[in-house]
Amino acid sequence: MDTKVSLCGLTLDNPLIPASGTFGYGYEYSDFYDINILGSLSIKGTTLNDRYGNEGIRVAETASGMLNSVGLQNHGVDYVIEKEFPRMREVFKKPAVANISGFSVEEYVAVAEKFDACDEIGILEINVSCPNVHSGGIAFGTDPSAAATVTEAVKKAVKKPVVMKLSPNVTDIAAIAKACENAGADGICLINTLKGVRIDMNRRRPLLGNVTGGLSGPAVFPVALAMIWSVYKTCSIPIIGCGGVTTASDVIEMMMAGATAVEVGAANLVNPAACKDIIEALPSVMKKYKIDRLSDIIGAAHREDK
Ligand code: SIN
Repeated sequence: MDTKVSLCGLTLDNPLIPASGTFGYGYEYSDFYDINILGSLSIKGTTLNDRYGNEGIRVAETASGMLNSVGLQNHGVDYVIEKEFPRMREVFKKPAVANISGFSVEEYVAVAEKFDACDEIGILEINVSCPNVHSGGIAFGTDPSAAATVTEAVKKAVKKPVVMKLSPNVTDIAAIAKACENAGADGICLINTLKGVRIDMNRRRPLLGNVTGGLSGPAVFPVALAMIWSVYKTCSIPIIGCGGVTTASDVIEMMMAGATAVEVGAANLVNPAACKDIIEALPSVMKKYKIDRLSDIIGAAHREDK
């Protein structure tokens, strides 16, 4: 059985990519399994300068999911390249995905240029969708022309493929994806988290320090599928699907909706071996649905419509 997929010029052994912010730089998980079985991995979202992130409580459980409000905590791009990449390289021998955040177009470009020069990186994933910061981030991902401006500026500055990571907290995600495609994006990753709130009833205050957080986990899976469905119909560039995937069946369902590769996020926090379990289960689920080559099913559910 063939689990390979081709994504923006890279051949992945399988479509599984741990999502940014749920897998560190890979070495944090390498005691659990040989992470070279992954298709790739997306590193923690990186900004130009180091960031402490949000104050107070940053995560909360929800029914079939979780809220996070980390606020883009990271050490900044230079530290990541100098200190984290050598550790990542020891345990992961494949090209990784660099998830990049910014508070201005210039910041996205500056970080992308630095990662573009790194052999460890195969794809630049531009995060215009973080719901947990009060400027930048999602502000670039909720307006088609702002998303296109970031895409175009980054594309001009780099050689590696550029994938735009989009927010579901919009009215028409397909219009934003199309604007990114028209501006030169090589792929679209969707969805980032959905904005949510929980209340601490003892304190009669919001539970999270930032008040709002991003919802992920199995609860968001059908939302992700609906958005992948609509972006697949509108765009021709590949989609990295993300949102609530926990099983090999979910991977196949997401690919049938239009995803070329699939990111797994919250599931890694519940079960550190989630991606390994999914990869190992893929052949038997492929057999169940009579799939010889995984790449054949990308967008299969659209065939009568497209
Ligand atoms: C965070 O660091 O707040 C999460 C990143 C994101 O949702 O893009």
